Amino acid sequence: MSHEDMPVFTLKHIPSITERRTLSGGKFILQMRGQTTKRSIMSSLRKLTVLVGVFFFIGFVPAPTIARTEQAKSGLVVADSELASRAGMNILQRGGNAVDAAIATALALSVVDQASSGLGGGGFMVIYRAKDKKSFALDFRETAPAAARRELYMKDSRAVPGLSLTGALAVGVPGEVAGLIEAHKKFGTLPLVVLAAPAIQLASDGFPVDGALGVAIKRQFTNMKRFPDLGRIFTPNGEVPKQGARIRQTELAETLKAIVRQGAGVFYRGWVGAAIVETVKKAGGVMTLDDLKNYRAVWREPLIGWYRGRTVITMPPPSSGGVALLEMLNVLEGYKLTEFKHNSTDYLHLLSETMKHAFADRAAHLGDPDFVHVPIRKLTAKQYAAWIRNRIAPDKTRPVSFYGYYNYDAEKGGTTHFSVIDRFGNAVSCTQSVNTRFGSKLLSVPTGIVLNNEMDDFAIHPETGNTYGLIGNQANSLEPKKRPLSSMSPTIILRGGRPELVVGAAGGPRIINATLQTIVNRLDFNMPVKQAVGSARIHHQWIPERLRVETGIESEVKKALEQRGHAIREQDALGVVQAITWDGSTMNGVADPRKAERARTD
Ligand code: DON
Repeated sequence: MSHEDMPVFTLKHIPSITERRTLSGGKFILQMRGQTTKRSIMSSLRKLTVLVGVFFFIGFVPAPTIARTEQAKSGLVVADSELASRAGMNILQRGGNAVDAAIATALALSVVDQASSGLGGGGFMVIYRAKDKKSFALDFRETAPAAARRELYMKDSRAVPGLSLTGALAVGVPGEVAGLIEAHKKFGTLPLVVLAAPAIQLASDGFPVDGALGVAIKRQFTNMKRFPDLGRIFTPNGEVPKQGARIRQTELAETLKAIVRQGAGVFYRGWVGAAIVETVKKAGGVMTLDDLKNYRAVWREPLIGWYRGRTVITMPPPSSGGVALLEMLNVLEGYKLTEFKHNSTDYLHLLSETMKHAFADRAAHLGDPDFVHVPIRKLTAKQYAAWIRNRIAPDKTRPVSFYGYYNYDAEKGGTTHFSVIDRFGNAVSCTQSVNTRFGSKLLSVPTGIVLNNEMDDFAIHPETGNTYGLIGNQANSLEPKKRPLSSMSPTIILRGGRPELVVGAAGGPRIINATLQTIVNRLDFNMPVKQAVGSARIHHQWIPERLRVETGIESEVKKALEQRGHAIREQDALGVVQAITWDGSTMNGVADPRKAERARTD
């Protein structure tokens, strides 16, 4: 059925909608255009909900240009895709709350950037509810299939790195749909059909390829040929689509409609799940329908810390990001950072030493808390930070064995982050992923879904590390049903109960350090959000012994850092940050200009 011959409805015919309330208790007003077709609505309301949603969004017209900075008074969504930001903004303008907007944004991203996240992936969402000042952390990270074993990733007793990255064994049990439905159940105020409408429209009508997706397809061109199901969608004429060319995903549109009509069940117990399992099985994987049936998104206690009088709300394990961020902020709090020149040698040396300690602890202690004890309190204690400060020499860096908690007490990319604040003061910080670009490269044909390669985030290859060179030990070993350790660090910073900064990033382990530097740029150096995100960054992850610096760092500084013993590697972009600041009257948000460039490794 084309748009022209679809009936137009008024939402007053769906009684539950107008009864609903926003998080702050205010009633929202819905307006629709056109006439009512009562007969059709009465006869099959469930099917029609999808059409209603699509019509609800008939005014959803993407802007032709990419505005990287946004200002707003009434609420703001900043995603790394213009189309996805607009989907979320539209929901805010129609009276939805921050979680409604986040769900619409996430669903739109699952259509316009399957290279970075989508229904075949997973993520984390940190939520702040203004009316009772409560915060929540939703874990919809992928899990290992029950039959997954380390031996599957080895040949002749040697690890084969490609197996956890590409193809069927790379796929973890997807958590995205369970997560979004769970967030909607607990906090949603608009019906799912309305939130999914922009995504459905973008999938069925097609959307124009933007610079970032163009780069992702180009980089994965060989895999588009090797995995023809993926290529059929993303290289429609056998070539990299030009910027502005349209990509249609009709199967994905049907999958989204089925989820709207039937809920998460169709994904975890119905035909969508069966099709995904079939795709994985045919390609030699071990995921079963039982793995999907047993999947649950989990509400976790958010990790809460304090930095310079602010409350930092961030993601607990199985993310390593929150713990590492708090550990580093605790260390930095002991310095008056503004006494350093921003991005000077002394400043970057201090940052880099702090990062090395935090990443040494990440490798040693962090993993899925349902499987291992993670010493969160010890690692995020202010006393531990004081001890680290004593070990940081201002003039030299140290060998690998010097870093990490055990000295203290004898004891590429396929990710996207978006930030939301609504006019009630609720906030959402959400990072979601398929791991590296287009995940495992497996596309489940009947559903249109690209499947993740999150299994590579386990410490399967202890000697070489994973694709990001991250090493780990028992804490992050592969075990059936376990969640692989993540670096995704969605964070909300409160000042006097008001979200002052909503921030997070994509970029593998760089996520943690990019988020850290954005926080101190804003809170210590008082930079406007555009500069806080745009300033040149560095990254050290303890092993390998490399200090990565963006090209914007002055060459004098680089030379001086080398003299202190740092092995410098230049890189164009270290992480992709989307952040919003709010001073109580004006909100400013920025999407990182690095996205379309070389921000992600593969
Ligand atoms: O969860 C993690 O830490 C990784 N799967 C994130 C990968 C990533 O950020 C890729 N790039 N943009």
